[in-house]
Amino acid sequence: MSIRILGIESSCDETAAAVVADGREILSSVVASQIDVHRKYGGVVPELASREHLRQIVPVVREAIEQAGMKLADLDAIGVTQGPGLVGALLVGITYGKTLAQALGKPLVPVNHLEGHVHAVFLEAHKAGRTAKLPAVCLIVSGGHTVLYEVKPEDSNVQDASGKLLYRKLGQTRDDAAGEAYDKVAKLLGLGYPGGPVLDRLAAVSNGVAAPVKFGPTKMKGNALDFSFSGLKTAVLYHVREHLEYSAEIRAREEALQRGERKVEQLQPLCSPQTLALVREFQNAVVRDLVDRTMRAAEELGVESVLVSGGVAANSQLRATFEQRAKSAGVEVFFPSRALSTDNAAMIAAAAYSRFRAGILADSSLNADPSLALA
Ligand code: KG4
Ligand code: ZN
Repeated sequence: MSIRILGIESSCDETAAAVVADGREILSSVVASQIDVHRKYGGVVPELASREHLRQIVPVVREAIEQAGMKLADLDAIGVTQGPGLVGALLVGITYGKTLAQALGKPLVPVNHLEGHVHAVFLEAHKAGRTAKLPAVCLIVSGGHTVLYEVKPEDSNVQDASGKLLYRKLGQTRDDAAGEAYDKVAKLLGLGYPGGPVLDRLAAVSNGVAAPVKFGPTKMKGNALDFSFSGLKTAVLYHVREHLEYSAEIRAREEALQRGERKVEQLQPLCSPQTLALVREFQNAVVRDLVDRTMRAAEELGVESVLVSGGVAANSQLRATFEQRAKSAGVEVFFPSRALSTDNAAMIAAAAYSRFRAGILADSSLNADPSLALA
């Protein structure tokens, strides 16, 4: 008989619930995104996020249970994101998860959101019939995080993710997360929110145009595996401020956004070749830094697998560059599908399964931990 776990995720701006069997098979996965609520502010507004989670949590969980063809009583456990994330947002999922667990008499499993992102990779690998050999180097890169870990099984006789995993932080961003840099650069260029998907598509159509500016690699004092993206974002800002020819087209795009024309097909005709090339150079710099440091860590540790997860892992150029570099380095690279890259609850249910098996449970004193570390 399989173990079926309901995962609940509410750490940022997605209210999500999913049922996963044995930590591998996704029976349902429902995600209610709040992008439309936060768009006009150009970023996530914590108070609005909590309010939206409150509105969405009950229908989202109900739909996940229905889609899985189950009743709540059929569940074996409930996994909920404990942190890191926005405290008010986390509390909605935790309070609901706790109440449900208590009412049903089911175990409650606390999950670290970042461990969820790691498990998104394993879920996808399983679907594709692949196995990510451990120890591995894992890059989690999203709107809130840019961090590199070594991931290995607690039991050194095990080479896969079937048991409890241990994490060692190798490096992290000292300022903005990579996704945050995408979002801020898109905002200052009048390209809407969230920035990643639009910049990804625009960078791909800029071929042949000379670079209006070049962004060199970011040098880090101290830990060479740390990241920094705020300097790059500021360099884009200064370049745009110093070149007045950008301002008319930025205004035109902002007006288009206000009319609700935010599709790439609508924004691209309002971009000069120079803007497209600027976006390309920005993306080249982000991708280069992410891939260089991750591959350097893989080489230093001598691992055979590299895992890449989080919203920015959906980026086409990041994927292509990793595939290329991994191939020439003789390592295997693993990504989640695009749907599993961004925040979802299937990854939370999958992470909860390995913790459930390791006997890691919470009681009614479980609280949100906005800066919960992964260890
Ligand atoms: O993981 P996620 O859904 O939420 C956080 O935990 O932050 O990631 C959202 C972030 C946003 O910053 C968004 O701009 C970025 O991921 N993103 C992308 C792409 N798709 C989403 N960044 C670059 N290229 C993409 N294709
Ligand atoms: Zn996330």
